[in-house]
Amino acid sequence: MRCARAVGSSPLFIAAADGCRIQDEDGNIYIDYVSSWGPLIAGHAHPEVVAAVRDTVTRGTSYGIPCRLEIELARKVVELMPAVEMVRMVNSGTEATMSAIRLARGCTGRKKLIKFSGCYHGHHDCLLAQAGSGVLTLGLPGCPGVPEEVVRHTICLPYNDLSAVAAVIGELGPEVAAIIVEPVAANMGVVLPEPGFLEGLRNLCDHCGALLIFDEVITGFRVAPGGAQQRFGVRPDLTCLGKIIGGGLPVGAYGGRRDIMERVAPVGDVYQAGTLSGNPLAMAAGLKTLELLGQDGVYPLLAANLEYLTRGLAEAARDAGVPTTINQIASMGCSFFTPGPVRNFAQTQQSDTRAYGIFFREMLDRGVYLAPSQFEALFIGLAHGRGELDYTIEAARGAFKAVREQE
Ligand SMILES: Cc1ncc(COP(=O)(O)O)c(C=O)c1O
Repeated sequence: MRCARAVGSSPLFIAAADGCRIQDEDGNIYIDYVSSWGPLIAGHAHPEVVAAVRDTVTRGTSYGIPCRLEIELARKVVELMPAVEMVRMVNSGTEATMSAIRLARGCTGRKKLIKFSGCYHGHHDCLLAQAGSGVLTLGLPGCPGVPEEVVRHTICLPYNDLSAVAAVIGELGPEVAAIIVEPVAANMGVVLPEPGFLEGLRNLCDHCGALLIFDEVITGFRVAPGGAQQRFGVRPDLTCLGKIIGGGLPVGAYGGRRDIMERVAPVGDVYQAGTLSGNPLAMAAGLKTLELLGQDGVYPLLAANLEYLTRGLAEAARDAGVPTTINQIASMGCSFFTPGPVRNFAQTQQSDTRAYGIFFREMLDRGVYLAPSQFEALFIGLAHGRGELDYTIEAARGAFKAVREQE
């Protein structure tokens, strides 16, 4: 179980979900801004996604060999993502990043990896160093069970600090297999890339022959139809996907330059496989979700709704005298309890997590479910209408006042 789900000592147990609402086992209903940590951009139990899964399940749940839906989804990803020429389906974001790193090491014949503090890439061993999300929430620098030897080749650097990356590349460049980055960091709260940061990583990789891996498990199909690589105009060599691509069912994928992807077995020599990969139910849910996102005006509408919500939240915080900094992009954002700015991991740590905890509980009491940790994102989707946003802003007025009073 992901640590971030725990909600302190009294976890929610969900019995049902519909649109932007979840209902717990006690019958309480909440407006949901976690969206299963991002995948449910179309909303819970979207009728068309449900119909697609229902139709598919009558023809079997897993074949263990390719099916048409898998090819259709792969084609869609290649069409949407500027830097993806070939794609391999897996079952989770963790599998996607794990496989991409193996591939990068296999292709370059090098061992070292550069990652950034506060970025989370799943729970496999070599990326658990100074990770974000639940690891960060629990304050773990590393993880028992991960041998030192395994993370010996993982170099953690500060997000948005290009000169730190340049210094390491200057010294160790010929040993570096890959730089892996969340192009928008969304596991230490939301932190946007500074202008030039992603371009700088691209240039440094080109300079030393390392591969640039964008972990777009969160940003893929969210910050733009073609992900962060489209939004920021930077082409990674490999891209990792998850969450939205499965429309709420378990999926991940990795893809990128054809010459690199052709090294994956069975065409190439870098082994990777999965019993349930390309699962038809997940493919059907993902395809339908991408189809819904492809309708005219969806991305501008989501962005306008998030803007509306965060403007309301900022006003409510200001009126209550609680200093906050809101970082946002497209349909995801995060309110830090600090005057800010918040542009890197160190600055995220200035946020008053006790105040966030009070805010979270007060919002929950008012029927609004936010991420239980400061170091996660708020997601909105197609099912969040102005009515729900207005209700949330009103709830926040009370919750910010409670934060002020309890400090
Ligand atoms: C950016 C990023 N990469 C990878 C992962 C791991 O994905 P999964 O939980 O599907 O294994 C996550 C999960 O939150 C993520 O946010």
